Amino acid sequence: MVDQALVDFFDSLEEADSLVLSDSSLMKNYGKQSVCLVRGSGVWVYDADGNAYLDFLSGIAVASLGHAHPKVAAAVAAQAEKLVHVSNIFATEVGPKVAAMLNRLILTGMPNKVNGRVFFANSGAEVNEAAIKLARKYGLERGRFHIITALGSFHGRTMGALSATGQRSKQAPFEPLLPGFSHVKWDDVGAIEDEINDHTIAIMLEPIQGEGGVVDPSPGYLPAVRELCDRRGLLLIMDEVQTGMGRTGAWFGFQHHGILPDIVTVAKALGSGVPIGACWAREDVAEAFSAGDHGTTFGGQPLAASAALATIREMIQIDAPGRAAELGKLFDKNLEGKPGINRLSGSGMLRGVQLVAPVAKRVSELCLERGLIVNPIGDNTIRLAPPIIVSASQIDHACDILVEAIGEML
Ligand SMILES: Cc1ncc(COP(=O)(O)O)c(C=O)c1O
Repeated sequence: MVDQALVDFFDSLEEADSLVLSDSSLMKNYGKQSVCLVRGSGVWVYDADGNAYLDFLSGIAVASLGHAHPKVAAAVAAQAEKLVHVSNIFATEVGPKVAAMLNRLILTGMPNKVNGRVFFANSGAEVNEAAIKLARKYGLERGRFHIITALGSFHGRTMGALSATGQRSKQAPFEPLLPGFSHVKWDDVGAIEDEINDHTIAIMLEPIQGEGGVVDPSPGYLPAVRELCDRRGLLLIMDEVQTGMGRTGAWFGFQHHGILPDIVTVAKALGSGVPIGACWAREDVAEAFSAGDHGTTFGGQPLAASAALATIREMIQIDAPGRAAELGKLFDKNLEGKPGINRLSGSGMLRGVQLVAPVAKRVSELCLERGLIVNPIGDNTIRLAPPIIVSASQIDHACDILVEAIGEML
């Protein structure tokens, strides 16, 4: 018998104020939300009252093709009508194509003899968990499990990824952490070398520290780390969760440095917002996983994989990396040397506007009031990560708003 009280409660939600409901029903792990977004199109998102916002955050570097991209939407809709999910007991049509394409993109410019394999999961943290487990399994027979990461890094919130993350404030409330991690000074290859011991198996780094404040490495750092890994028999894991899929002006951030990691993790933009992540590893490293070693129910399922396949196809067609590199220059042109701005960091469509004063939060609020979404990191940094399909005039317009907002705080 139908429970009419449940039906009535369900129907009452239609009328509920989403901000009030959000405040009363969700855990308080995110800051207070002041705007409820109901719709998006390209670089624009809209609230329930029809107010439009230029989205220069892209759901934190996710919507690289913009919101509601028609080709991604069509691919997901078609797949939803065909087959959403089975299980990893069966092969499916879409996931392996995404894996083959990712392998190709990661190996851009590499000799043909190199090859790799992919494990799919659903988020950045999960693919980093996979990378950590794969590295440990790879090192098992030699008693190696220790992983070195950088201070200021961010690798996710699950216990393994959090243990890898080099930020005490995020770790402290959740101790004890997973043992077997060290965090050393970023951009200092000597600090890594000093930390290596007989149990060390891998170095794990972002090519640009995203959550840490869009912090660039010096030009020689990543090649030197690669050389160190080769010399000491260690794996190099690159966390490309934020930087991958064209955002920095190359398919992957490590490609700016002419190196190839042993393990690469990707998520965020891969599915244009449909949750999917991938952990890629060089063939001989990937072989460390035998049947049953690792898994996840949804990993590589057809619906998410269809979003990723459509995303990759479109990114190739618009030359997403080239576009990000070219348009990224407009940020330098518009923002470099402006009052209140110390310097710009990052590259392509992942930029940090480093402010001279600790006013990032207030600046982002002023931008929001003027219809522009940007993201404060810490006190002094505004992160810009617009969709890669953004137009030159939209960048100019956003920069005008940002400069004005910063000017108001001086
Ligand atoms: C470099 C990096 N790694 C991992 C993560 C975690 O990804 P997710 O939030 O999808 O778990 C993030 C998220 O911001 C990230 O920037």
